[in-house]
Amino acid sequence: MAVLAINGGPKVFEQPIHAPWPEFDQRDEEALLKVFRSGNWWRGGTIESQAASECGKFERAFGALHGTEHALAVFNGTVAVECALRACGVGPGYEVIVPALSFVVSASAALPLGAYPVFADADPDTFQPDADSIEAAITPRTKAIVIVHFGGYPADLDRITAVAQKHNLPLIEDCAHAQGSQWRGRGVGTYGDYGTFSFQQSKSITSGEGGIILCKTAEHRSRAYRYHNLGRLESLGFYDFELLSSNLRLTDLQGALLNSQLEKFPQQMARRMENYAFLSAELRKIGGVDPLPADDRITRHGFYYYIFKYDAAQFGGVHREKFREALAAEGLNVTRAYGRSINEYPLFRNMKVPAEYTKSQYASVRMPVSEDACANRICTFSHTMLLLDRPALTKVVEAIAKVKANIGELK
Ligand SMILES: Cc1ncc(COP(=O)(O)O)c(C=O)c1O
Repeated sequence: MAVLAINGGPKVFEQPIHAPWPEFDQRDEEALLKVFRSGNWWRGGTIESQAASECGKFERAFGALHGTEHALAVFNGTVAVECALRACGVGPGYEVIVPALSFVVSASAALPLGAYPVFADADPDTFQPDADSIEAAITPRTKAIVIVHFGGYPADLDRITAVAQKHNLPLIEDCAHAQGSQWRGRGVGTYGDYGTFSFQQSKSITSGEGGIILCKTAEHRSRAYRYHNLGRLESLGFYDFELLSSNLRLTDLQGALLNSQLEKFPQQMARRMENYAFLSAELRKIGGVDPLPADDRITRHGFYYYIFKYDAAQFGGVHREKFREALAAEGLNVTRAYGRSINEYPLFRNMKVPAEYTKSQYASVRMPVSEDACANRICTFSHTMLLLDRPALTKVVEAIAKVKANIGELK
């Protein structure tokens, strides 16, 4: 008689388990209504009104959460990366080093600026951008380095900032996954020249769409400010335009929602970290489904993904995809992040790049660690799973342990 649900046995979860997101209440409604009724739905035209707006308030509050006074709200995480790249002087003729294991934007944001991404591979243990691979990707055309804190687990900022400094290259931290994460007691996004964040619907702080750029100094912010506000300088009049740029401003309705969502965030972050510790300890006991390594330098862990590493050898050689299918049948949806290493997308594979960009001949670029992680090893849950109650999480562990105990049924 089959035990696994995929073979007709009883399911662990009668209904597929689902963690509702976003969490919202009357405070969010009131915050939105306040701006709505004020009739002032943008963040304002003068520097004073911009600072006094909900967006201005959010820049200060989110900046404080990560440990900087210099922040700039924008309308999503994609334009945040683009704006930071432009502020670092990226343009036609340059190369930008980018992570292969990330959401496409970490790499593709350089393309509209006329620059070519050069991929760096991931560390096999943490799945984060690897400092040696970044250094090997540097050429005389390199203008900036983009890294990601994949899933919210910080990349090795000690080693990566050392590489950036050694080669005198600006560093952009794509922190779209890492709201709240800290490295050695300071928020991620403050180690590089710029740190960019997304507040799109699925992120752990959200206003549906939204973004912010943390900037190393006031001067860095001024540079980004020009590109986010139609090429205006803060010091010039409303109709004085200095350079070609677009309008990346966030609305104050979203600013208000971000402020009220941010009030809930510390408590949600504490719940996520507590459940992360529980789930990680339980998965370690099962074996072959290891969480990312504990690291004392990670002093606070924000999440987009809960990541664990599947080891087929400890599951009788059964491939991760079969394991995921078996769990889906049990009512537990295990994802595999974005499914492919960015260099493998047709966007890059089919791109014709002038021959002198030798590291950007994408048809032949291989990122062995990232490709293997995506194809065979990486397993993810949404951060929302870490907001479930303990009985639900215990059943998550039970489902995984059940598949392992009955792995013979999958062979
Ligand atoms: C790593 C990373 N960078 C950038 C972005 C782009 O953010 P947005 O969707 O807000 O444009 C995302 C969005 O998921 C992301 O995951």
